[in-house]
Amino acid sequence: MSPSNDTATLRLGDQSIDLPLRTGSEGERALDIRALRRATGLITYDPGLVNTGACESSITFTDGERGILRFRGYDVEDLVDHCEFIEVAYLLVHGWLPNAAQKASFSRLLNQNALIHEDMIHFFSHYPERAHPMAVLSAMVVSLSSFYPELGENRQEDIDLTVTRLLSKLRTVAAFSYKKSLGEPIVYPRHDMKYCQNFLNMMFSSPVVRDPVNPVLVDALNKLLILHADHEQNCSSSVVRAVGSADANLYASISAGICALWGPLHGGANQHVIEMLQQIQADGGHVDRAIARAKDRNDPYRLMGFGHRIYKSYDPRARVAKRICRDVTAALDRHDPLLDIAMELEAAALADPYFQERNLYPNVDFYTGLTYRQMGIPTDMLTVMFAIGRLPGWIAQWLELRSEDEFRIMRPRQIYVGPPQRTVKPLGERS
Ligand code: CMC
Repeated sequence: MSPSNDTATLRLGDQSIDLPLRTGSEGERALDIRALRRATGLITYDPGLVNTGACESSITFTDGERGILRFRGYDVEDLVDHCEFIEVAYLLVHGWLPNAAQKASFSRLLNQNALIHEDMIHFFSHYPERAHPMAVLSAMVVSLSSFYPELGENRQEDIDLTVTRLLSKLRTVAAFSYKKSLGEPIVYPRHDMKYCQNFLNMMFSSPVVRDPVNPVLVDALNKLLILHADHEQNCSSSVVRAVGSADANLYASISAGICALWGPLHGGANQHVIEMLQQIQADGGHVDRAIARAKDRNDPYRLMGFGHRIYKSYDPRARVAKRICRDVTAALDRHDPLLDIAMELEAAALADPYFQERNLYPNVDFYTGLTYRQMGIPTDMLTVMFAIGRLPGWIAQWLELRSEDEFRIMRPRQIYVGPPQRTVKPLGERS
């Protein structure tokens, strides 16, 4: 983003201040208020940071009105159609798509770093059987910081090693935690398998089941993880940046991002979509009742997988996810009654003035959860899948933050509305 010649003038009584406008590489304009408080004593008030640009970034571009999502300039659909997930991970972290040699070296590093320290495997045994896999994932990621060195010098080799270590081990932790939750022996990663195939093998093979991983599932997983790979300053990425801005290490920052992603309004929505559809099914499949509840102001019920802060048209990720979902269903020749309910619900919502007036469309979580379900991923693991996909984005955001000239701790202000100053009464005199 470069400063432009334009300024906006703010008038406060007889005082006026010129605030520069800045323009991004896709023409997005922003008011630069860095001088505001110093010049006027004012701060801005923007709950939910709906109008606030917290940083400049060259990673991801979104245009919510036109339904555009690009990573480093490439349309997400183009990447889904032509790349594997690890190429997109490389793109986000490094800024360019790898050539054949770079991809081979990245794959090699991912394989070399796939195991987790054997002592960490004992941790899984001490979680309650019903522990949510996102709690386990977040705890295991922050624990990695006690087993592996922090990113020190920011030298390229350190970055490559730390990045591949995290990308590779997150996948291993996720699969191990699933196996432990089943009470089955863990399946170790294999050097002869690529990233997505390796994950599915760790999830679904066992000493008694050694079926080869279905290439349809490998392809679908590559595509779904790409859809999740980054989404500019969303809640969890902002958390990763906020924690990183306190100079916390990468593992701690990512662990915090995992916790943020878990929330049902964010990545946790994919689990809640499935639970909502199951509830509709259990209630006889009446999508109209779900729509009526979602519209009722006195009912906190929302259509999960619908609506988005940025997208005021169809979420481009949801469009691709719907296509992948149909392809997987056809290739596996499976019928999922929840998919029928989902499509009926989508059609009913899109035809309803409440959803039309508010520009509420399916978001990424509406069809991705259904696709993972077809692939055999259990419902409480769905947000873990989102986390595996989002990891390269979080890492890229963290690295970008650390390379900023203006690297400063993130520390918003507030408008205090509590009681004015008062004095402490002795204990016996308090009402
Ligand atoms: N169902 C019913 N009404 C909705 C929904 C929904 N899913 N989403 C928004 N609305 C209504 C909302 O009640 C409000 O109505 P009114 O103007 O009458 O008060 C209006 O639409 C604007 O909503 P908002 O809550 O101000 O929008 P937001 O930008 O603050 O929230 C959201 C965005 C995603 C949190 C919200 O749409 C939502 O809760 N969706 C359901 C949860 C979900 O699917 N989350 C996944 C998001 S995509 C994955 C990710 O990147 O995080």
